[in-house]
Amino acid sequence: MDKLIIRGGRSLHGTVNVSGSKNGSLPILYASLLADGPVRLRGVPVDLIDIRSTLRLLEEIGMRTFVEGSEVVIEPGDSRQSMATYDLVRKMRASVYCLGPLLARHGHARVSMPGGCAIGIRPIDLHLKGIQALGADVEVRNGYIEARAQGDRLCGGHVYLSGPFGPTVGGTINTMMAASLATGETIIEGAACEPEVAGLARFLREMGVSIEGEGTPTISIMGVDRISGGEFDVPPDRIEAGTYLIAGAIAGGEVEVKGCLPAELRALIDILERMNVRLEVGENSIRVWGQSRLVPIDTATLPYPGLPTDLQAQLMALMCRAEGLSLISEKIYPDRFMHIAELNRLGARIRKEGPIAIIEGGASLSGADVMASDLRASASLVLAGLVAEGQTEVHRIYHLDRGYEHMEKKLCSLGADVVRTHDEDGV
Ligand code: EPU
Repeated sequence: MDKLIIRGGRSLHGTVNVSGSKNGSLPILYASLLADGPVRLRGVPVDLIDIRSTLRLLEEIGMRTFVEGSEVVIEPGDSRQSMATYDLVRKMRASVYCLGPLLARHGHARVSMPGGCAIGIRPIDLHLKGIQALGADVEVRNGYIEARAQGDRLCGGHVYLSGPFGPTVGGTINTMMAASLATGETIIEGAACEPEVAGLARFLREMGVSIEGEGTPTISIMGVDRISGGEFDVPPDRIEAGTYLIAGAIAGGEVEVKGCLPAELRALIDILERMNVRLEVGENSIRVWGQSRLVPIDTATLPYPGLPTDLQAQLMALMCRAEGLSLISEKIYPDRFMHIAELNRLGARIRKEGPIAIIEGGASLSGADVMASDLRASASLVLAGLVAEGQTEVHRIYHLDRGYEHMEKKLCSLGADVVRTHDEDGV
């Protein structure tokens, strides 16, 4: 496995271009399983491990995939399957997105249950509730979800999909895909409002499905008999954009984050401004100036349009620089705090009380060996490394490569000193 070696203390200057959205691409790649013809996607972050794993999974269940630059074409192959094995699914939780489309297309599906991961238990009960509302009989047996449409075709239904931690992005996505080939109308209430859900709705509409209400808690979908294919431009990655905004804020200097959609980053912009970070928001870009006198704040992650949980760890690194006590309450994944111990190895003073992190900012950070535990935790360690005195080695950056395209190159182009090397110890 590779590691990143960061020599901290350099300010960042210049422009960084945002890649296509990982979490926006994934549902659309899986939705191609619904189609009888080719699907062409532009702006896909093809150099991410999660995207490559998804393309491999699609191939193994009978699709043909072609990649050229950031364009991906997916076509149905000759023998399409309705099963995804543990070996395919265990590498990536989002593989459970194949459940809805496989069931809708074949009338039955057998998909391995995904496991938990470093950010928590991550149940899929709401995904199952969604397809059950469309008339599927569902059983979980021997680690597999076995789903079968009564009468061999799903039929529209009415379902409420929020759970104890709010709406579910993945459950909404799975249900929308299943409903697209069901007979009649499906209404999802308590739906996730995240831009990735709205993106999927636009794509399904492009493929001929009639959908209304995306971006609101009530989505209605009128299923069709056949989906022939379509084209789609994947929107920019709002979490990657947010991560580079925080990088600019933490490291000093002046950074332009280009090719983003500022409207999707409102909560982060508000938080950064409250922390005394200077920002200039353009139409498709945001400029950030590093600020040495940061103000501590009290905030919480929330469903969209609130602060994304996927920016919590990175924001925590920034809070370490604000003199005084900051609080982050994690409302989506109460256990998503693996980065605390590693940030503390760099000299941060953070403690956790239940789902709340209390950050005593102002301590100077000093370089150390740290271990990446999940994707966003890895990004927060890299950001902290940018300002830690001396050398920080972030091990197990496999996680980072799942969700950030060429992060070290992008940071180096801004003037950071970050080197990727093979980790001899293999940790
Ligand atoms: N939940 C349930 N039951 C379910 C599904 C979810 O109780 O059936 C709970 C979860 O445990 C969590 C909350 O509901 O407490 C929200 O989970 P959600 O289903 O919205 O998350 P997800 O679809 O599994 C996606 C992203 C995550 C991101 C979350 C929240 C993808 C591939 N994953 O996960 O992204 O954190 O939404 O916005 O889009 C990441 O990119 O690093 C990442 C983890």
